[in-house]
Order: sequence, then structure tokens, then C-alpha cells
Amino acid sequence: MQKITLSTFKNFKKNAQKIVAITAYDALMAGIFDEYADMILVGDSLHMSFNASSDTLGISVDSMIYHTQAVCAGAKRALIVADMPFGSYYNTDEALKNALKFYTQTRCDALKLEVNADKLGMIESLVKEGFAIMPHIGLKPQSVRGEGGYKIKGKDEKEARELIDLAKELERVGAFGILLEGVKSEVAATITQQVNVPVIGIGSGVECDGQILVWSDAFGFFNEFKPKFVRYYANGREFLSQAMKHYANDVRSKAFPNDEESY
Ligand code: KIV
Repeated sequence: MQKITLSTFKNFKKNAQKIVAITAYDALMAGIFDEYADMILVGDSLHMSFNASSDTLGISVDSMIYHTQAVCAGAKRALIVADMPFGSYYNTDEALKNALKFYTQTRCDALKLEVNADKLGMIESLVKEGFAIMPHIGLKPQSVRGEGGYKIKGKDEKEARELIDLAKELERVGAFGILLEGVKSEVAATITQQVNVPVIGIGSGVECDGQILVWSDAFGFFNEFKPKFVRYYANGREFLSQAMKHYANDVRSKAFPNDEESY
């Protein structure tokens, strides 16, 4: 079981080997996913999945660091990328200060920031200071309030051009990979062909170099609504709910614990 480093990660693209990525927020899940995932993202989506918030805004750097430490404790193989939360990189000084906190307080391999073209200088500065950066472009959940909803990107010629140019610029300033969310498949395919760094997609079609899903979506724990890009690989909520029901029945009927389970 060899640790996936930045160079292993970049080689996946060179060898046309699809990259498997998933989110995790704790050591238990990270330990389970680690055997099969090439990349584990400690996404700020945890604020929605595990705090029932309506968006990802409002989670602090310290909370993200706590969860990143947990994931690092559970996963030994996958490349671990931590999300820098909303408000933690509003200018370059703040980005450098908070990136340093992630690197000194956790063992994460890289950081992810949701960016536009106006953040190119910031990404360049972070890379120059030795941080491995995966910019997140396209639909950016941290912009949901500013944009008034989650909007698919690359729908017209201008938006497509801007995204393609942005991806190329991000590669030029040193990003080791790019996360594309909610981008029209044709545009995502063009970006994937035109940059040399791995492109990880979510809701961006099959041509990306890899795919990521939020684990509670993928395994059917969150099913209040199902975005078009999600596929359920398990019926986790039902499975746990039945197990909990069984346990509750056993406690109430005094079937648990039995003599062998008692001292
Ligand atoms: O926070 C997150 O989980 C993410 C994914 C949606 C890629 O950014």
C-alpha cells in the first residue's frame, strides 16, 4: 500500500488512469475509503452533510483543521486534500496565513480553494511558498449566496471560453490539479484535453481525468433530494436505520445484552 504523492497523482493523467476521489470528514470513513480512493477531500460540504446547514458557508478554519486531522489519522494511502473554507482566503495574506495553519496543524497533502481569474496571483503566491494547490472552478458552492443559487457553468460560448482560459492559467501559475464542478460535459472535456494537470470532475461528465462525489450522497445517506450527477452506490440511510431499529427493539425487549455480553 504505497502512499499517493503529488507525482503519483500527476502520473495518473499521463498513464490515462482514471482517478477515484471521494470526500471524508472523519477517521472511520477515511480508513474505509482509503483502500480504493486515490484522493480523499475533506470538503467543506461537511457543513451541509453533517451539520444540516443549507450551504457550505459558516464553517471555520479550526473546524476544517479538526476534520482534516481526523481524516489524516484514518487514511494512510490516498492523497488528502483539505478545503479552505469561505472567508479564509479573501486576500493573499489571509490565504497564506490560513494555508500555513493547515500545513502545520495537519498532515494534509494539498489545499483546495474556490477561485476566479482574480485569484491567479494568490494561487501563484501559495505555490511559491510551497503549498500544493487544487483550484476549484465552475460551479462554486461558496458563491451560492452571491450568485443566488447553484448554476451550471459553461452553458454559453463566453462562459466556456473563460473557464478554458482560467484552467490553463491555473496550470501556468502552478496548480497541481483542477476540480471542476457543474460544468457542461463538452467544456469539461476540452479543459481536460488542454491542460496537463489532472482534472477531477463532479457533475462535469465522464471525460474528466477523475471523478469525485460527496460520500453521504454516493452511499445514500443523504436522500432528501438527489442531484442529477449523483449515483447511489448503497442505501446507507435505510441500512443504518434498520440496524438502529433492531438495536432499539433488542434494548426495549431486554434481548440485549445477553449473558455472554455481560460481566
Ligand atoms: O466540499 C466538497 O465536498 C466539495 C465537493 C463538492 C467537490 O468541494
